Amino acid sequence: MPRNFSLLVISFQLIIFVQCAKRFHLGRSKGGNLGAPAGIKGVTLPPEQWFVQKLDHSSPTDMRTWKQRYFVNESFYDFNNPGPIFLMIGGEGPANAKWMVQGAWIEYAKQFNALCIQLEHRYYGKSHPTMDLSTKNLLYLSSHQALADLANFISAMNDKYKFNREVKWIAFGGSYPGSLAAWLRLKYPHLVHAAISSSGPLLAKVNFMEYFQVVVDALREKTGDEDCVTQVKLAHQQIETMIKADPATIEKEFKLCKPFSKASINDMKNFYNSIADDFADLVQYNEDNRIGHDMKRRTTTINSVCSMITKHPEKPAYKKLAEFNSIVLKEANETCLDYDYDNMINELRNVSWASEGGRQWMYQTCTEFGFYQTSSGEVEIFGNQFPLGFFIQQCQDVFGPNRAKTRKPKTNLDLEIFAEV
Ligand SMILES: *[C@@H]1O[C@H](CO)[C@@H](O)[C@H](O)[C@H]1NC(C)=O
Ligand SMILES: *[C@@H]1O[C@H](CO)[C@@H](O)[C@H](O)[C@H]1NC(C)=O
Ligand SMILES: *[C@@H]1O[C@H](CO)[C@@H](O)[C@H](O)[C@H]1NC(C)=O
Repeated sequence: MPRNFSLLVISFQLIIFVQCAKRFHLGRSKGGNLGAPAGIKGVTLPPEQWFVQKLDHSSPTDMRTWKQRYFVNESFYDFNNPGPIFLMIGGEGPANAKWMVQGAWIEYAKQFNALCIQLEHRYYGKSHPTMDLSTKNLLYLSSHQALADLANFISAMNDKYKFNREVKWIAFGGSYPGSLAAWLRLKYPHLVHAAISSSGPLLAKVNFMEYFQVVVDALREKTGDEDCVTQVKLAHQQIETMIKADPATIEKEFKLCKPFSKASINDMKNFYNSIADDFADLVQYNEDNRIGHDMKRRTTTINSVCSMITKHPEKPAYKKLAEFNSIVLKEANETCLDYDYDNMINELRNVSWASEGGRQWMYQTCTEFGFYQTSSGEVEIFGNQFPLGFFIQQCQDVFGPNRAKTRKPKTNLDLEIFAEV
């Protein structure tokens, strides 16, 4: 480990992690990532630029290349009195030019006269290394290749801008890009001076049951008492009982696209996973990007939902959960809750760049990280109907039987190797 190891890891209060496309009924989660900032009226966004990138960094003889998208804001930078270079790392969704004019890092950039650059992650947004997303072509999608992209990009920009050797690159990222920021500093200390790793989950974990524990903790901590958690737990127990005793009521209340009589075992797991994910989304995106924006953007927050489900004690808990479900459907412009497992798998099998089903991120979880947000946690607030096997099954059904992630995650093995340097 280098002595002057200046890796900054901040903001651990919530592990922000974008789930794969199983929540395909929720339009907003498809692109991955935090919601982008609103944009500033009258400020034009910087144009897209393209960097010629190597396809396979692990092969010195493979000369194939592709075009990687990036954005630059030079407005705060003084070429005569140069400050640091801020690099925002793209993640499992399209890069967004709005980040080039807004956000905490822009405030820091003003303070430090930084040059701001955002590089899109390979295979996301408009950065297309291959013809399509066939499993064969996804071979070049990994965090390792993405880190090598970043290193190659930094070296090329050092040449392009003729930066001197003292130039300080600072990497920024949140969630998966937060992990990348930390790994980048660790793996290329000669290129990267420091990294801001926001909510970066650094250790890959196949059965990431802790995720829903954090969701529960957030409901408890934001409201200051146990009432919301108690109601959610009660609602899930009622739903499980009623599906056996009176399925028609649940079908109607939750606006299901098809009746339970037509549901497979996997459909049922998908249903339970979907209604739990409503809370995962609620917590994950609670009040994000509010600073300087009008509050109309999203009024559904932990406090509004918990207030709704704790009020009216005479109403059964499942009904109040159904009301929340209706709000989520409305926000996603969906007329009914589609919990059909085969529909989801078919969407994830689509190899077209135009499909936004989350196939790329699914591939990364199946081959590298796991990170499956299962219902296997100690406290069963959301029931126990979506265990690890359900997610392994999805990997097999989307990519074929050999892709299931069961061995120790490769990423951690690599970290162990780093630690010995
Ligand atoms: C850089 O960001 C500032 C602050 O939002 C904005 O005024 C300026 O137009 C941006 N410059 C470019 C080149 O996008
Ligand atoms: C839903 O539809 C409205 C109006 O057409 C649109 O503004 C909004 O972006 C849509 N939301 C989603 C999540 O697709
Ligand atoms: C894949 O997705 C694209 C874009 O949504 C769509 O046009 C196409 O029909 C889909 N292909 C299949 C085989 O479903």
